[in-house]
Amino acid sequence: MTTLPTLDSLAVEGKTVLVRSDLNVPLDEGEVADDFRIGASLPTIQALLDRGAKVVVCSHLGRPKGVDDTLRLDPVARRMSEMGGFPVNKLDVVAGTEAEAAIAATDPGTVTLLENTRFEAGEKKNDPDLADALARLADVFVLDAFGTAHRAHATTVGVAERLPSAAGFLLAKEVEALSALLGEPERPYLVILGGAKVSDKLAVMEHLLPNVDRMIVGGGMCFTLLAAQGHEVGNSLVEESMVEVVGGLLSGENGHKILLPSDVVAAAEFAEFAENVVVPVEAIPANMMGLDIGPDSIAAFKDAVEDAESVFWNGPMGVFEWEAFRAGTAGVAEALAGTEGFTVIGGGDSVAAIRLLGREDQISHVSSGGGAGLELLEGKTLPGIAALERWNDA
Ligand code: 3PG
Ligand code: MG
Repeated sequence: MTTLPTLDSLAVEGKTVLVRSDLNVPLDEGEVADDFRIGASLPTIQALLDRGAKVVVCSHLGRPKGVDDTLRLDPVARRMSEMGGFPVNKLDVVAGTEAEAAIAATDPGTVTLLENTRFEAGEKKNDPDLADALARLADVFVLDAFGTAHRAHATTVGVAERLPSAAGFLLAKEVEALSALLGEPERPYLVILGGAKVSDKLAVMEHLLPNVDRMIVGGGMCFTLLAAQGHEVGNSLVEESMVEVVGGLLSGENGHKILLPSDVVAAAEFAEFAENVVVPVEAIPANMMGLDIGPDSIAAFKDAVEDAESVFWNGPMGVFEWEAFRAGTAGVAEALAGTEGFTVIGGGDSVAAIRLLGREDQISHVSSGGGAGLELLEGKTLPGIAALERWNDA
């Protein structure tokens, strides 16, 4: 297991600490629609405040190309202030002399939030000039953005190469929980994957299949597997270019571990209020598409969860945003909440589903990362984590 330099190893009293959080949250009409990641970032920020640091927080939001007024961090600053119970001084710049002066004018025990880091072209390129400018804002650096630790950007890697750095509480907790699944998880070990695209999950499927006891595949991606098995899936989402490779997984030596839905909720249109029918996967009408897993599949998946001692789940079972196609995702969320085993949930939709049920307290670990968690489970070294390791013996 990776060892990371901890927050406790940094002297922060009277220092300016730059914290990279993942505050990439969904917005709705300019307001934060889901504040899970903001809440998850608060323990580190609060601890630094309690220890007498001047805290400067930064994050990206969305995927802007240059400055985009709809992706400023002001709504995030407002919500963070409400949730944390402290004022948040939001700047309109990411770095540079204006930011340096604004930070210099604040006192220890205060929080400054920089502007969306992706407004700077150098962020995603890990540009040395931007990393230098960020490093000039603070004395030490804390990486707490687990959800972005798989990106080698200026605010995740560049600055960690320039300032004494440590992992925040969230990053440390995430790595610990996911490492438990990478090592010797309690068995049976079940992985549940969903979401639209099999291409996003292929690497994790290939890597995990030998080590799991069972792998459930639902969501849009299951139709590519069903097609590979020879089913007629109508107008369901199929990634043609993936059919052959997933066929190979299904017929390979671990293919018997894969459990697919036996029935689906289908509709003629991809629309919220489209009329829908439950059909077995052998009988999906040619003019229809599967938009959720059906009741028999939900029951079978629940049984598999009940039998498991370790469960990792990432990705919705259907078009979870629409109530008519939510039952599969809600059913899986309920099953995880109800089981005694070690449970980890990652990915925005799966996390939203468990929060909608109000049962996140019954999950061993609700992850703030989607792609980052999958890459960790693929056995990859995340660039943000690798950048911190140099400070272990510092
Ligand atoms: C996420 O939500 O997946 C992370 O914040 C990373 O964002 P990205 O996929 O745009 O790099
Ligand atoms: Mg993403």
